[in-house]
Amino acid sequence: MSRAGDTSPTGDVSPKSDVTRDGDAARSASRALDQAFGPGAAIATGTAPGRVTLVGEHVDYVGGHVACIAVDLALTVVVRPSRDGGWRVAGLGQRVERREPVMAGDIGDRLFAVAQALHHSGVPVLPLEMAVAGDLPASAGLASSAAVTLAGAAAMLRLAGRRINAEELVTVALTAERDIAGIPCGDLDPRAIVHGREGSVLALDCANGSLQRVAWPWPAVALVVAASGAKHDVGGEEYRRRREAAEQACAALGVPTCQEIGERWRELAPELRPRGRHIATETLRADAAVRALEAGDVAALGRLMDESHESLRRDCEVSTPRLDAMVEAARRVPGCHGARLVGAGFGGSVVALVDQGAAKGCAAALAAVSGLNEATWLVRPAAGVEVTAADVVGREGDRS
Ligand code: GLA
Repeated sequence: MSRAGDTSPTGDVSPKSDVTRDGDAARSASRALDQAFGPGAAIATGTAPGRVTLVGEHVDYVGGHVACIAVDLALTVVVRPSRDGGWRVAGLGQRVERREPVMAGDIGDRLFAVAQALHHSGVPVLPLEMAVAGDLPASAGLASSAAVTLAGAAAMLRLAGRRINAEELVTVALTAERDIAGIPCGDLDPRAIVHGREGSVLALDCANGSLQRVAWPWPAVALVVAASGAKHDVGGEEYRRRREAAEQACAALGVPTCQEIGERWRELAPELRPRGRHIATETLRADAAVRALEAGDVAALGRLMDESHESLRRDCEVSTPRLDAMVEAARRVPGCHGARLVGAGFGGSVVALVDQGAAKGCAAALAAVSGLNEATWLVRPAAGVEVTAADVVGREGDRS
């Protein structure tokens, strides 16, 4: 990853190595820990990437297909045992302290939730002091809450000297976010963050948990991500309503997942029809995106990203005027193949598929609309937690 603005017009990119970046983030997090709670050694560290969806938004919670990547923007969590039994978290300018790891609607929630979830799954987690740092922006539609959850889980597993398999880790993250923190999210984010690979796109089937990896076929095609500046909130009422409407559409048609809807969204009552059309068409677009990647057809993937945005805007109604304006601005840049909002919407970010030589211009066009020059990134498919924390996350049957 590098700032999109660092990309030279010829398309040369020279990102810092992951090792340096993670080391820097761990040092920042350790400093934050000492500043917030007094000196002491950070005992264990975990790092988790963010996620960018290429096509397949708002379908994971009704068993749809998603084409997505883990990205080279990440969060690092450092942990150390608490000396007095208090639970503490510092980061993003916040500092929280509680007697029990309970939810209170602040930065502590995700880490306290994952501590509880690990504990329920049989990994002993004693009271902890923790801090978060990294270059993955919060509330930008790039799955920062799943990333902090999974980075925390990796750190806690290291501290406990325990190993779990990748699917158990996804379940722990979902238990933490959904059942304990009460966020009605699907499984897209933890699965992308756990299973991502450098140089590969993940094709997720959210109905049965299977996945396929497809190599990113274009060395000279880049993904530019730009924040809109409006914070999105997956815990908000609107996200919950989208999920409920999608579930109602499936129930009304008597289908177990959105994959079986096909053209039958037309049978839905008028108030459910747009949501039904979104989930029915978006899962098919995700399949088509995988075919475009396999065929190396960049124009086709760009078109599918454009269509995905249009469906999210018109049928799912999760876009905003700012996101629409950013998408339009990106598409006007010669060399841009397609652009769409990324993540849940209601703010967050835009992702554009561009020829590498056009990345700088595209980032500038996006920033001209958002007014946020520092909030554009050139991202690449990156390794997930099962690779970066292979010492504590193993395959089925590897559990110690
Ligand atoms: C958020 C949720 C995911 C998914 C996306 C929209 O990131 O956490 O489960 O629903 O929104 O595709």
